[in-house]
Amino acid sequence: MLTNVEHIGIAVRSLTDANELFTKLLNETPYKAEFVESEYVTTSFFKINETKIELLEATDPSSPIAKFIEKKGEGIHHIAFEVDDILAEMERLKGEGFTLLNETPKRGADNKLVCFLHPKGTSGVLVELCQTIPDYS
Ligand code: CO
Repeated sequence: MLTNVEHIGIAVRSLTDANELFTKLLNETPYKAEFVESEYVTTSFFKINETKIELLEATDPSSPIAKFIEKKGEGIHHIAFEVDDILAEMERLKGEGFTLLNETPKRGADNKLVCFLHPKGTSGVLVELCQTIPDYS
């Protein structure tokens, strides 16, 4: 089940510049910065009540974020929905005819398991499903 919009991902050229800009815009400093090895990105997260904004900067030209910016420039990159059972949702959406960009959940930023849906099947919007990895500590 999809439970809420977990965050909105924004592709930026410079995380330093964008952090400064969003700190002014939201009147809030980022609560977390993280390198995501699987995507070649560094991210920073802002939180306004329950809504998060994820800024993404490519760390390598092969990064999906570098390719996105090359094609479209900076801007909204994806919408992430929180799910309570990522495997069940992947199965359900596959059954509905959506194309999954990864067949098994992968490790995303902010302690999440993630799966992306191909934007060709979602009106051009890259959709991320994310499930918080339970903390057993
Ligand atoms: Co995201």
